[in-house]
Amino acid sequence: MIEKNENVFHLRGKNISYIMSVNECGDLLHCYYGKKLRGKSYDWIKQRWIIWGGYASDKWTLDICPQEYPAYGYTDLRSPAYRIIGKNGSGVSRLTYKSHKITENAASEIEGMPSLFAGGKNAQTLDITLEDKNLGYEVVLSYTVFDEFDIIARNVKITNISDAQIKIDSAYSASADMPKDDYELIYFSGGWGKEREMCRESVPQGVKIDISNARGGSGHNMNPFVMLASKGADENHGEVYSMTLVYSGNHSTMLECDQYGGVRIMQGINPFGFEWVLDSGESFYTPQSIMCYSDKGIGGISRELHDVIRQNLCRGKWADKERPILINNWEATYFDFTEEKLLRIAEKAKDAGIEMFVLDDGWFGKRNDENTSLGDWVVNTDKIPSGIGGLAKKINDMELKFGLWFEPEAVNPDSDIYRLHPDWIVRTEGIEPAKSRHEYLLDLTREDVRRYITDAVCAVLSSANIEYVKWDMNRPMTDMPYNGFNHRFTLGLYKIIEEITSRFPNILFEGCSGGGGRFDAGILAYMPQIWASDNSDAVKRLQIQYSTSIAYPISSISAHVTAVPNHQNGRVTSLKTRGDVAYCGVFGYELDITKADDEEFEEIKAQVKTAKALRRLMADGDFYRLENPYTTNYCAWETAAKDKSEAFVMCAKVLSVINSGEKRVRLMGLDADADYRDEYTNAVYGGDELMYRGFEPTYENRDFSTQILHLIKM
Ligand code: DGJ
Repeated sequence: MIEKNENVFHLRGKNISYIMSVNECGDLLHCYYGKKLRGKSYDWIKQRWIIWGGYASDKWTLDICPQEYPAYGYTDLRSPAYRIIGKNGSGVSRLTYKSHKITENAASEIEGMPSLFAGGKNAQTLDITLEDKNLGYEVVLSYTVFDEFDIIARNVKITNISDAQIKIDSAYSASADMPKDDYELIYFSGGWGKEREMCRESVPQGVKIDISNARGGSGHNMNPFVMLASKGADENHGEVYSMTLVYSGNHSTMLECDQYGGVRIMQGINPFGFEWVLDSGESFYTPQSIMCYSDKGIGGISRELHDVIRQNLCRGKWADKERPILINNWEATYFDFTEEKLLRIAEKAKDAGIEMFVLDDGWFGKRNDENTSLGDWVVNTDKIPSGIGGLAKKINDMELKFGLWFEPEAVNPDSDIYRLHPDWIVRTEGIEPAKSRHEYLLDLTREDVRRYITDAVCAVLSSANIEYVKWDMNRPMTDMPYNGFNHRFTLGLYKIIEEITSRFPNILFEGCSGGGGRFDAGILAYMPQIWASDNSDAVKRLQIQYSTSIAYPISSISAHVTAVPNHQNGRVTSLKTRGDVAYCGVFGYELDITKADDEEFEEIKAQVKTAKALRRLMADGDFYRLENPYTTNYCAWETAAKDKSEAFVMCAKVLSVINSGEKRVRLMGLDADADYRDEYTNAVYGGDELMYRGFEPTYENRDFSTQILHLIKM
């Protein structure tokens, strides 16, 4: 709900208030963001202005005023939310209120980029137009609020209304000036095989922190999701503010603690390597930043974002649907397969109850290793004599679905398409373009390149009964020819995936980028699940899935049971542990099932049955993290049905410790007045007992032991 009261805008979500006001000089000031206020009187806002020194322009300084979209140089000397250079070469800017518009039942739409949709919910959008009268441009700040969520989704549109060119050097999507407090910054760094490691730091005065990535996609190294938490906030307590960028390119979340202890936090496109020239009449849109607030700790943020992402960001029929249990041949065969081998894996998988067979890299051109054929999307009939259509049919005849891997954004130098169009790759004139994993990136800013990719992928998808696509992207972006290229590339990517996913609405798309190198809300808008990491070791996965679940729904986190010793880190864990860890995600297998002995095969069969029984819960349940694997020797998590009818719990003890005594695990989200029966042991517990007293997990006397419970309300 959005209320305008004189010069005050009050946005209310389910439990939140966000208040702004226009002062007498026309500045749009930030007044409050947090737990819902009734908004009976706004006198306190005027009182704050008096403290700041009155209303006349010669009396106050914006340096001490919290603002909505601050500039640098006109009395505010903190890091700015935008910098636009006019024909006089100056970036000094003063934005003042011009007009506003409130649209009912609508979410902000952003040209060329995904964003939240209203989807029949009570959503309202406030567009506030500010103007720089000196340089001649307008800035529209858009705020979408939903009655049933605790989020404010923001984006910015900049329009040149002058006769001269202007140049945007930076334009964040959202900026929040938070009052002085003891904050901690929580962010997710990492690298290949160790994506989204949870980091937590205090925010001392004077510090400037840039949580950013300039490697092309949203990155293995820094995720575009950040939280500012009250000191000591944990899973269930404390105030937490988060920002999620709906974007898959270079990003930045910039934080500055000013000389008075106030914290400015801004999120958007990374200004590094960015610029955008606007001719007269042209507009520029930033991506959307979703701001979320919880006074119930980090867990409160997660459950809210999970619902928002599943219900109002992921498009298409798979968003909230139970996902098929798949087997992928990558770790089973890598490039070394024949059609017979694939069919043997599929046959055995079918016997185990698996529902889909996915053919990974190596099916096209002459591709038998990483060096060749990327971009030549024509089946290699030496390896697959029946072709993709024939193979899909054989798989379908086994009553399995068929899925296929692509890496559409890249080419190998040794490919027909590169030989035909050497000018299609991303390169800077005069410099030998860099190869990464023997690949060049295609220049998605070009219409002809986008057409080639779209047509080539669609041709394959039309040629066979393909029901799932794994969309991979295996290299960082080098050789960018000009500032702003990365953003244009990202817009090009969205055009391609928008067209392909709309043309094939029944296909389930999974994002991937050398593991989880592009795990972001932009991709999730089109592809409701993403391969979380090439590191499939169950122990490392405890951390990766734990921290990924903070920002993203578990229905988006692909989690496969793979062989041991693990191919990435050599660790040996039991099949039980690997399965138990993968259940809270999109469950699947990535191993040579034909090599499983009878006992292992029976266990896989049982796991598939278990995963099928759990997957409805994983698609729309509430997720609770109970023990943190970053700070303890344990990990525990739980998914509870929203109606409290069932819950699944996974507890893990990483290293075996003799005589340690097990800390009890206390569950959440159950009905205190009901009893629950554990499907696996038939033990009966009270909901109150499980939540208030908890239970002591029983671990085996070995490393990497896990216990699971599937609790059904009696
Ligand atoms: C990287 C992905 O993360 C893997 O799962 C696999 O698809 C390979 N690429 C194939 O090249």
